[in-house]
Amino acid sequence: MVDAAIRAPSGSNRQGWKFIVVTDNDVKNQLGDAYREAWNFYVKEFYGGSSDMGASNVGDTEKAQQVNRISKSAAWLSENFHKVPAQFVVLSRNDPTGSSIYPAIWSIMLAGRAHGIGTCLTTVLGMFQQEKAFEILDIPSDKGWTINAVITAGYPLGKWGVADRNPLDQVTYLNKWGNETNWNVNEPLWNY
Ligand SMILES: Cc1cc2nc3c(=O)[nH]c(=O)nc-3n(C[C@H](O)[C@H](O)[C@H](O)COP(=O)(O)O)c2cc1C
Repeated sequence: MVDAAIRAPSGSNRQGWKFIVVTDNDVKNQLGDAYREAWNFYVKEFYGGSSDMGASNVGDTEKAQQVNRISKSAAWLSENFHKVPAQFVVLSRNDPTGSSIYPAIWSIMLAGRAHGIGTCLTTVLGMFQQEKAFEILDIPSDKGWTINAVITAGYPLGKWGVADRNPLDQVTYLNKWGNETNWNVNEPLWNY
């Protein structure tokens, strides 16, 4: 999975990245505690402590059910972060927009998928507990590194389908804005 990451493009081919693959239980436990704190802070600050990330404010719509599912799944991850088999901590520097690291992040996730490994991209640790994470992982704090993501990885415990998304035709135009494609891709075009 890291081999896929280092093949990714980056601006000017700078490759300003580092990957820490965490499999040690003690380190995972410490990161798990820091992640939980970060997640609780995020829910408190952004959703006023609402444990369903505001789903109840959206009424009983399909959207509300979706938000509910996401909040349950994210809350489960925060409680079980230390138990995932591997945590990929992804760092970058000299990437002020954060865009040069995302191809590498997504490559880790796609490579995992190709091997039957499920992943989740998380960002709250780097956003709200970066200092703590630096301490836990012995990352030098004076070299300009930023934690862009921690990707959790493990063999799936449940559903292993292709992600459900708004249809391609709703978000794609042909040649000019507003020109419908009429491609009618209503199902994923992948084998699954
Ligand atoms: C940039 C980015 C940051 C994310 N950060 C978090 C996070 O900190 N914690 C988390 O549980 N999920 C996080 N996610 C996962 C999204 O919530 C998830 O991809 C989305 O709800 C769709 O779910 P699915 O990928 O399982 O289909 C993040 C996703 C992206 C793309």
